[in-house]
Amino acid sequence: MKSYRIAAIPADGIGLEVIPAGIEAVNVLQEVTGSFRMTFESFDWGSDYYRSHGRMMPENGLEVLKGFDAIFFGAVGHPSVPDHVSLWGLRLPICQGFEQYANVRPSRILPGVPGPLANRGPEDLDWVIIRENTEGEYAGVGGRAHQGHPEEVGMEVAVFTRTGVTRVMRFAFETARKRKKRHLTLVTKSNAQRHGMVMWDSIFQELTASYPDVATDRMLVDATTTRMVLHPETLDVLVATNLHADILSDLAAALSGSLGMGATANLNPERAYPSMFEPIHGSAFDIMGKGIANPIGTFWSAVLMLEHLGETAAAAKLMAAIEEVTASGRCLPPDLGGRATTREVTAAVCAALRQGR
Ligand code: IPM
Ligand code: MG
Repeated sequence: MKSYRIAAIPADGIGLEVIPAGIEAVNVLQEVTGSFRMTFESFDWGSDYYRSHGRMMPENGLEVLKGFDAIFFGAVGHPSVPDHVSLWGLRLPICQGFEQYANVRPSRILPGVPGPLANRGPEDLDWVIIRENTEGEYAGVGGRAHQGHPEEVGMEVAVFTRTGVTRVMRFAFETARKRKKRHLTLVTKSNAQRHGMVMWDSIFQELTASYPDVATDRMLVDATTTRMVLHPETLDVLVATNLHADILSDLAAALSGSLGMGATANLNPERAYPSMFEPIHGSAFDIMGKGIANPIGTFWSAVLMLEHLGETAAAAKLMAAIEEVTASGRCLPPDLGGRATTREVTAAVCAALRQGR
């Protein structure tokens, strides 16, 4: 039996509520399937750690994480720590340091989930957004000069490399190739941004020849938002820059019911480093401690983690349990219009796993 060691980093806010829920569901899953073994080691890194140590994680954090098979991550962000400090101190160093260049964000309207799009159901919205995850607008390149003076300037430079663009696009083509529709949409803004974005367009054009079995189209990012709302069924896999896909994936999560549903895989496809799995909702301080956070984005992230590790049957079983719970409509959290707590949704998914249908 294969066994895996997972580093759990709940970090901040509702991350501390949903990650234990995810671990509980995976523990029940391994108990009922008996087909794999997964042990979790928890790390207390995050904004509390920052307040006592002056850093979000220890200096050798990446060294420590390197030995694990995967990372199960909650959320970063706390009102008392500037967001750019918490982000650049924990999540981005992991994504960039471990070359997790393919950020995968699936969206579907799960059965029983009331999405905001009128007359649209599970058959109309089934997307995978592939987000470039190591460079672009998140490269951290730029600076400020004349700080505090009237002539102050702030520069935020997006960095696009041929290697970085090509590898994420190849990953997107491979993803599209494995799906029923085999369709890939390239999202850019090459009308206004005439350097890096035009390079994205031309690299994409070059790659299409290697994937004749994948149908493609191109769309500007602004137009993509309207297409997602008005014609969701025309989209399948999308590939976009770090920032564009960040924005589109929040919209995708909302259109599939709630931000609480969004799941992510930060993949290093070459497996030279561990990959990281996390819900996309963030720390949500407004509902922290109330016990009402939606754990489904975390369960779905666990599904992505199991798939990445090759435990596809177990992954499918967990996804089926999630869908059984949403379909019954009896145990939905407040963000989906229900009244169930994090604990109740978790218990319902665990019960569905135990019933083993
Ligand atoms: C996400 C989040 C992060 C991002 C935040 C927390 C900086 O919004 O994972 O989409 O923008 O990358
Ligand atoms: Mg985001």
